Amino acid sequence: MFTTSPARIMVLTCSTRPGSLGPAIADWFTVTVSPLAARLGVELRSLSLAELALPFLDEEEHPSSGIYRRPHTKRWSELVDAVDGFIVVTPEYNYGMPAPLKNALDYLGREWAWKPMGFISYGNTSAGTRSVQHTKEVATTLRLVPLGATVALRLQDAIVGGRVRRSPRHDAAAEGVLREAVRVSRALRPLREALWEGSVEGPVPGSHTRVMTPDDAGEVTVLQRCCWVDEAVDNDSLALAPLRESVDEVACWLDRWTTTGLWRGGRLIAMVRVRREGRIGRIGRLAVVPDMRGAGIGRWLLRRAEGDLGAGCDRIELSTGAGSARNIGLYRSEGFVIDAEEDEVVHLGKALPGDLPTTPALGVG
Ligand SMILES: Cc1cc2nc3c(=O)[nH]c(=O)nc-3n(C[C@H](O)[C@H](O)[C@H](O)COP(=O)(O)O)c2cc1C
Repeated sequence: MFTTSPARIMVLTCSTRPGSLGPAIADWFTVTVSPLAARLGVELRSLSLAELALPFLDEEEHPSSGIYRRPHTKRWSELVDAVDGFIVVTPEYNYGMPAPLKNALDYLGREWAWKPMGFISYGNTSAGTRSVQHTKEVATTLRLVPLGATVALRLQDAIVGGRVRRSPRHDAAAEGVLREAVRVSRALRPLREALWEGSVEGPVPGSHTRVMTPDDAGEVTVLQRCCWVDEAVDNDSLALAPLRESVDEVACWLDRWTTTGLWRGGRLIAMVRVRREGRIGRIGRLAVVPDMRGAGIGRWLLRRAEGDLGAGCDRIELSTGAGSARNIGLYRSEGFVIDAEEDEVVHLGKALPGDLPTTPALGVG
């Protein structure tokens, strides 16, 4: 499985006590593993439960419902949703995890599922390991996947003047936790796909859709480059934007278009982008990886794109290369007619009989 996206790992400081050792230990971990994170393409996102300041769980609905009413729950959900794994920096309180960690776990459901959770624990005789064991029991209920690699700091040995004493053994252990978090996170990615918010099962087994963001620019760039080679051959031209766009340029248009990606096993296998311009709906960048063509994916995505354009659209327009016979055939078979041909480009359109009865309106480009 290939992915160009950086893994996003949250480093979560769990004690909320004023004067707690947690921030110093989280700091040590982050500084120690930062060079490795850069080499592995990992983005570390630090968060402290003290700063997050969640009250004791105050939602009416069970978290598995995904119905959140409080702004702090919505924010916590977004933060957890946006990462691929966790490294929890936790003390041991009375042989267990600190209450703020249990509370933070209880708030959410789907957002935790199929993500690795590593531990940097600290304490007296047991170096916080009983807290880790306690957390693992709760974490597995939420389908978090606890890591075997761990750092366990005995305060009397590891802490000097409120800071972690530098030790090659601890540094190596910290790197081991990060490496394992990244490996497990990548391996679990296919399991997470089915749980994406708003995800729809695709036309080929094991595939799921997701609306993409600028974070997906790496994968989209790879998809474009492998898909538009055929277009270059069919149109006898290399001057095609999808072949030439940089990752930054792709990120820029991902921000302006609503782009649906179809993923399978951690791989982006197809996409289409749409946007509304007044009462015109525009569809573009319909692409299917070469090894999965002929399975109806393009037609399926085209129909979804038309549905996604929503009510209030009079017409749908799209363009393709004049030499792209296969594309033109697909569009014509879906009711599009050629409006105009200019140089090497063909413009096609389709009048809609009335308002389409589906999905919320999309942003106007
Ligand atoms: C409420 C409380 C309970 C504690 N229970 C344990 C314990 O069960 N095992 C242990 O090794 N240390 C225990 N300690 C000592 C902590 O390991 C030590 O105070 C550590 O600094 C606490 O983490 P913090 O500074 O991030 O709050 C406890 C400390 C507190 C405040």
